[in-house]
Amino acid sequence: MKTISILNLKGGVGKTFTAVNMAYELHRRGYNVLLIDNDKQGNLSKAYSRYDADTYSPAARLLSGDWQQADELIQCTDYKGIDIITANMALLGATWQLTACAEEMQTGRYKRLAEAEIEFYGSCAVWGKYDYCIIDNPPDIALNVINALEITDEIIVPVKIDEWALEGLDILREQIEDAKQFNPDLKLKGVLVTSYQNTDGEAAGREWMQQQENINVLATIRYSKKVAESTFTFKPIYEYSPCCGAAQDYKKFVTEYTGKAR
Ligand SMILES: Nc1ncnc2c1ncn2[C@@H]1O[C@H](COP(=O)(O)OP(=O)(O)OP(=O)(O)O)[C@@H](O)[C@H]1O
Ligand SMILES: [Mg+2]
Repeated sequence: MKTISILNLKGGVGKTFTAVNMAYELHRRGYNVLLIDNDKQGNLSKAYSRYDADTYSPAARLLSGDWQQADELIQCTDYKGIDIITANMALLGATWQLTACAEEMQTGRYKRLAEAEIEFYGSCAVWGKYDYCIIDNPPDIALNVINALEITDEIIVPVKIDEWALEGLDILREQIEDAKQFNPDLKLKGVLVTSYQNTDGEAAGREWMQQQENINVLATIRYSKKVAESTFTFKPIYEYSPCCGAAQDYKKFVTEYTGKAR
């Protein structure tokens, strides 16, 4: 099991879109994927048609420790091989509550899941059942994100090229260093350029980024008009428009990432 956190303190840079489409591409290669929606907006849950505004969401229960069996938290999606722990606004309350309880253990919440068993697949370890766990994070670092970093192997940072593209990256690095006290193996894998349009400005911005010694640019995902069209279909972009630039680029990225083509 490899756990990947999609993280950037900036909003609207393509974190959720990356989580949706990486999961789908991994699934197309035959991998079992567990998604954790770690954002109160619940956009990842919406994208996989599992959003429910009216419950105390599984992600909130995971953070608050209010669960017995992993089966209570994990749901199947329409894709066999992609399961999800969904979120809604209840995750905000759970995060506040945990922040206020200074005397309680504020970490180790998601780690409990890593050590749990899932009955649905015939009593196996959650971490044994899945090949990848992808965590979609909000644009901040609160206790739910710290708990996610505890179980994360690699962090991927989606960035949109603009003059403030790398704003917050230093803070993110500091947070990663702090999180290493709980998880010494945590690694910043690199940045993924998202919604890329081949203008002079963006090309120059990307080139500058590629020249920075402390930034590893993993790949570039092109901007596609098809993405906006596909929003209300609740489908991964490859299913909606397999030939568009964004679909092709996620496919290529995951092939490079896993070493397995599809
Ligand atoms: N390659 C792309 N081409 C066109 N539009 C894109 C592309 N990638 C992402 N988008 C669009 O950009 C918007 C922001 O993407 P997304 O919701 O994934 O960002 P986010 O970082 O998760 O935002 P937040 O911080 O609010 O959670 C969405 O409308 C999404 O459809
Ligand atoms: Mg998001």
